[in-house]
Amino acid sequence: MRRILVFALAIFVVGMFTADVFAQDHAFIGVKKCKMCHKGVKKGEIFEKWESTLHAQAFATLATEEAKAIGAEKGIENPQTADECLSCHITGYGVDAALTEALIPENGVTCESCHGAGADFKKISVMKDRDAAIAAGLTADPKAVCVNCHNEESPTFKPFVFEERWTKIAHSRPAATEE
Ligand code: HEC
Ligand code: HEC
Ligand code: HEC
Ligand code: HEC
Repeated sequence: MRRILVFALAIFVVGMFTADVFAQDHAFIGVKKCKMCHKGVKKGEIFEKWESTLHAQAFATLATEEAKAIGAEKGIENPQTADECLSCHITGYGVDAALTEALIPENGVTCESCHGAGADFKKISVMKDRDAAIAAGLTADPKAVCVNCHNEESPTFKPFVFEERWTKIAHSRPAATEE
């Protein structure tokens, strides 16, 4: 009897652990929500900087002649509707539909692609408390996330060196640089 109990407990613990590690249970809120607090000179123009990068165009890029030619080689008629392309050119690809309702594909690779789905950390009280925000799903320093997309699965892959690439999409809060 005791052995069965121990076994049941072990399964329970393993279940909890894997659920915790693999569950993507935070809902996406869309880039407009992040914009509310991260735009303007005083906030470091983080939204404006993102908007000026190709990450904001990643979905639109899939409609270009170049994209169509790459698709045609793979038997893909429309890259904007093909899983093989969308997986890296939009935000929240492959996540449960119930959690991605707020996303608009046209916005491409948004804040939440790198910083995590924001529903549970977007509140000002949570955002101001770094540890609480991280516990609620924020990836504060997403350097390791880049290679989820910048890898050899990309038909136009170019070798990825973080420091070189970061300078092209760099953003920061004024407070962090003034300190
Ligand atoms: C209600 C306002 C508000 C919203 C909405 C908001 N933020 Fe924030 N965010 C803040 C504040 C305030 C801070 C911390 C203080 C500061 O920036 O000086 C912060 C900090 C951050 C940080 C830095 C964390 C650290 O300490 O390293 C990141 C990254 C971030 N936010 C990303 C996002 C993303 C992504 C979204 C959208 C999903 C978002 N924020 C939505 C207000 C907000
Ligand atoms: C594994 C992730 C990934 C997949 C899958 C992917 N892409 Fe991309 N794509 C990227 C990245 C990252 C870039 C930016 C260039 C780089 O650094 O490799 C990019 C850039 C592009 C560009 C711009 C040209 C350039 O050289 O920057 C086009 C066009 C493109 N992709 C088309 C497609 C098409 C069409 C598909 C589907 C057949 C596709 N991509 C699938 C990640 C991906
Ligand atoms: C969800 C997938 C994804 C993630 C995560 C991602 N990228 Fe990208 N990145 C892309 C795609 C797709 C493009 C090409 C967009 C296009 O050409 O329309 C791109 C383009 C770029 C560019 C060219 C931007 C420009 O305006 O010239 C840089 C630089 C870049 N990525 C750096 C990074 C860095 C650094 C990280 C991690 C902090 C990162 N990327 C994370 C998918 C991604
Ligand atoms: C391609 C991935 C990527 C995207 C998209 C992205 N970020 Fe970041 N962000 C990063 C990385 C990486 C860092 C950490 C850089 C470092 O510490 O050197 C960062 C840092 C930050 C910080 C902290 C800056 C500081 O001074 O400490 C804030 C706030 C932030 N991002 C907000 C946003 C918001 C808001 C958006 C969308 C408008 C966004 N980010 C889009 C990758 C990304």
